[in-house]
Amino acid sequence: QEGDANAGATVFNKCKACHDAETDKNKVGPSLNGVIGRVAGTHAGFAYSKAMVEAGKAGLQWDEASLRDYLHNPKAKVKGTKMAFAGLKDEGEISNLLAYLEQFSKK
Ligand code: HEM
Repeated sequence: QEGDANAGATVFNKCKACHDAETDKNKVGPSLNGVIGRVAGTHAGFAYSKAMVEAGKAGLQWDEASLRDYLHNPKAKVKGTKMAFAGLKDEGEISNLLAYLEQFSKK
């Protein structure tokens, strides 16, 4: 279903300590500006885990389906990821979050 980007901005409060979406700036986690369409583990200047880099090399690219899986359970989707986040259990929240991130992924 269609997500609500405004509601997604609120969900993004859970990510903000570690991620910026509005700019290219890396924090504890890589910038999520332009993340939709990105090959996993490839944002410039960020020191990813080996697991994330390997996942990207193996073909993981961030789209709606792969982000949904990763955000639902990061450590199940990318075994060995250093993202210390339990995951979002509510699929509606994830839909809203994806709508929010999409705003910063238009080329
Ligand atoms: C990686 C999203 C919460 C720390 C990532 C990636 C995505 C993502 C899509 C992969 C990016 C890429 O391949 O360039 C999110 C979202 C969050 C969230 C949407 C909130 C719902 C957090 C939190 C932290 C964090 C709270 C810090 C406690 C990291 C780190 C990585 C990462 C360190 C790199 C992982 C690695 O190299 O294995 N995040 N994240 N994230 N995130 Fe998050």
